[in-house]
Amino acid sequence: MDSYSLIKLIHIISASILFGTGIGTAFFMLRAHLSGNPEAMAVTTRNVVLADWIFITPAVVIQATTGLWLTFQLSIPLGSVWFIAVVSLFAVMGICWIPVVQIQIRIRNIIANGGGMADYQKLMQTWVALGVPAFISILILYVLMVTKIGVGTSVFG
Ligand code: HEM
Repeated sequence: MDSYSLIKLIHIISASILFGTGIGTAFFMLRAHLSGNPEAMAVTTRNVVLADWIFITPAVVIQATTGLWLTFQLSIPLGSVWFIAVVSLFAVMGICWIPVVQIQIRIRNIIANGGGMADYQKLMQTWVALGVPAFISILILYVLMVTKIGVGTSVFG
């Protein structure tokens, strides 16, 4: 396998980890929340925070570095509509994701200390509100990756 295909393979595997872990942890977090069982919430939130560090953090770094490498290899202009859209959506994802991790850590601590149900409810609402734009951004990123719409159009006209 040539180095281009290898890096592209890593890029796609990393995308699967990023998207799959994101959806998976969100599902279990929501299910634990809806169960109303504090023990289930405590164990799940602890594991979700762990999954953020083990899977999502490295996947984000790998995604950006391999993505940039592929972009340079394909000589895609950095001023193309495609590239600007990809970087902007990636930034939206990151801007939503950083507070999501902080919220998960705060929820974990609230449950571990056995209190603050009102704070917990408010944090869960913010957590959902941030998850929606992150999810939509990643879906649009997949479309941009596959179709490469805007690669040949420059934002500078
Ligand atoms: C800084 C962010 C990113 C950059 C610069 C980037 C760049 C690229 C480039 C240049 C390709 C084309 C490779 C080729 O056609 O040979 C590609 C493919 C791909 N990217 Fe990204 N990418 C980024 C983030 C992402 C994200 C966040 C995802 C999804 C979670 C993703 C998923 C994919 C997939 C599935 C392909 C394969 C598409 C195909 O072969 O048709 N990428 N990426």
